[in-house]
Amino acid sequence: MILAPRFNSRPVISLQHVWKRYPNGTLALRDISLEVPAGEFLFLVGPSGAGKSTLVRLLIREEKPSKGKIFINGLELGRMKRWRLPHFRRQVGLVFQDYKLLPRLTVYENVAFALRVLGESSRVVSARVSDALATVGLEDKRRKYPSELSGGEQQRVAIARALVHAPRLILADEPTGNLDPATAWEIMQLFLRINAGGATVVMATHNREIVDMLRRRVIAIDGGQVVRDDRSGRYHEVLPAAAVHL
Ligand SMILES: Nc1ncnc2c1ncn2[C@@H]1O[C@H](COP(=O)(O)OP(=O)(O)OP(=O)(O)O)[C@@H](O)[C@H]1O
Ligand SMILES: [Mg+2]
Repeated sequence: MILAPRFNSRPVISLQHVWKRYPNGTLALRDISLEVPAGEFLFLVGPSGAGKSTLVRLLIREEKPSKGKIFINGLELGRMKRWRLPHFRRQVGLVFQDYKLLPRLTVYENVAFALRVLGESSRVVSARVSDALATVGLEDKRRKYPSELSGGEQQRVAIARALVHAPRLILADEPTGNLDPATAWEIMQLFLRINAGGATVVMATHNREIVDMLRRRVIAIDGGQVVRDDRSGRYHEVLPAAAVHL
């Protein structure tokens, strides 16, 4: 196990001069360095093609950086053995724009799936799935199939599936991208509750209203670079009044 250099105040995520060039030559990330402390709620914003999803994919080692180092909980991802990856990924809750539910499984079975793969007893599976479904308010839909649910409900199933492993880190890539504003807010309330429970949340989003309302840390990426890192930020940079009137 490799420890990050500054493990006194060890951040959950640490990127050190990370570059990513895809095999086709696209330079998606350029020299990204950032640290995310435990318990933070962080928005990644920026135009389409900026590199947000690439960053998320690097954080679960779906992709490897071309240069630089990434530490999660002090563990350097680049040095993690391949056989450890499934275990590592289970410790991270992942939520995507398109839900990625298994269509032939019920709500219950979708949430239970990964626990069953781990060989958990049916008593443990039942308790944890029920807990997760209660958290997202979907106990009454446990026997339904994804096609019988609304988009917001499907996203709540996906969140329950992420929660079932009690992850300390949640990565969400445009989780409200396909939802109407009211449903998007419901989903955001869930993420806020998860964050209030101590989990670190990193969310890539185009949802300006939500980012501006919540005033959390905002990292703006453009052209693969961090162009802004605000502690209590907005979706767009707020220019000083003098500059606006120029
Ligand atoms: N698998 C890939 N192979 C080659 N290039 C890719 C790949 N995935 C993404 N890219 C390119 O990398 C750059 C960053 O893409 P990325 O998907 O990270 O952007 P994004 O910020 O998530 O955009 P959006 O807001 O549209 O989701 C883009 O130029 C994109 O075309
Ligand atoms: Mg994206």
